[in-house]
Amino acid sequence: VQDRLRDSHGRAITDLRVSITDRCNYRCVYCREGEDNVHFDELSIQDYLRMIEVFVSLGIEKIRLTGGEPLLRAGLVKMVRELAAMRPVFTDEPLDIALTTNGHLLAGMAVDLKAAGLSRITVSMDAVDPETFTRITRVPRSFEKVLAGIRAAKAAGLSPVKVNCVLMRGFNEDQIEAFGEFARREGVILRFIEFMPLEEGRVWSKDVVVREAEIVERLSRVLPLVPLPPNHLSETARRYGFADGEGEIGIIAPVSRPFCGHCSRVRLTSDGKIRTCLFSQTDHDLAGVMLRGGTDEEMAAYIRRTIEQKEARHHIGEPGFEKPSRSMVHIGG
Ligand code: GTP
Ligand code: 5AD
Ligand code: SF4
Repeated sequence: VQDRLRDSHGRAITDLRVSITDRCNYRCVYCREGEDNVHFDELSIQDYLRMIEVFVSLGIEKIRLTGGEPLLRAGLVKMVRELAAMRPVFTDEPLDIALTTNGHLLAGMAVDLKAAGLSRITVSMDAVDPETFTRITRVPRSFEKVLAGIRAAKAAGLSPVKVNCVLMRGFNEDQIEAFGEFARREGVILRFIEFMPLEEGRVWSKDVVVREAEIVERLSRVLPLVPLPPNHLSETARRYGFADGEGEIGIIAPVSRPFCGHCSRVRLTSDGKIRTCLFSQTDHDLAGVMLRGGTDEEMAAYIRRTIEQKEARHHIGEPGFEKPSRSMVHIGG
């Protein structure tokens, strides 16, 4: 039997996040600067599948498809079907296949994705007020589309549906309370995320981050919360239930409560480079190894060597911190 994938800090690597396109149909203020966005070549779906298969043979148990906007990618449903046929090597559980989307095209695809074998879905949504939503996404009438997408996903049995909201002071922190009500009404797991310095522009500063303590305090005033136990060690979110009924809120606080110590994640960019941390300064060109005729064994050895170099943690807010050399649309969320 082979060893599990481990980095030099002793962390087992079980999660792979794959960006399958860096194109997006939104232009969220904190993510892209506008039309000057660089678009790298994408790989074919077959190429992503081959790389993922090698990762799975090394012990990956959870795949998250991201982007850019993954629903823009032709061949996505077929890709999910092929992923669903892959089997993890160290567990009898099926491969966990998740997808992060902005939800704009979801209403028309939810049934097909579920039928193809998608396990669950996360929708990014940074406001519940339609005008604020458009101010952030910079696409008119986008809120209605996303809401329809969330409802279609639930109806299709893609449960639980998670909704991710990145909070930024001055943009959407006034939405916190309304989001709490929204989560209860729609029966989704809502997660607030602290804003990280990942954008191409220069929006990020410590003052723009709405911290976990403030989120909990504001929410508790309108909807009393009770802490819930973690599902697993490498969970990013701290979970809360509502004191007076069903529902779940999570807070992902990479800035005020980093979770690097239990990080189980690596990423594959849309052009097939391994990123061992969201804040890596280095690309490891796995696609290059494959496209130059590398065998599965050579790719596996390359992955092992790369993962050994995984960073211990991020350095957000510390002197000398440098933003990653590429933005979120390339790296994936
Ligand atoms: P689940 O499988 O549903 O638990 O997903 P998850 O907790 O990995 O969350 P998701 O994929 O929805 O990621 C939500 C957000 O958490 C991302 O958009 C990032 O902002 C942040 N995040 C996820 N993974 C990492 C990570 O490895 N490091 C940091 N710093 N932030 C992360
Ligand atoms: N900080 C935190 N989360 C971010 N996301 C994008 N940019 C940032 C950032 N700077 C999140 C999106 C989405 C996922 C793809 O990544 O909201 O949920
Ligand atoms: Fe893992 Fe890097 Fe994210 Fe920390 S910042 S949790 S090490 S990917």
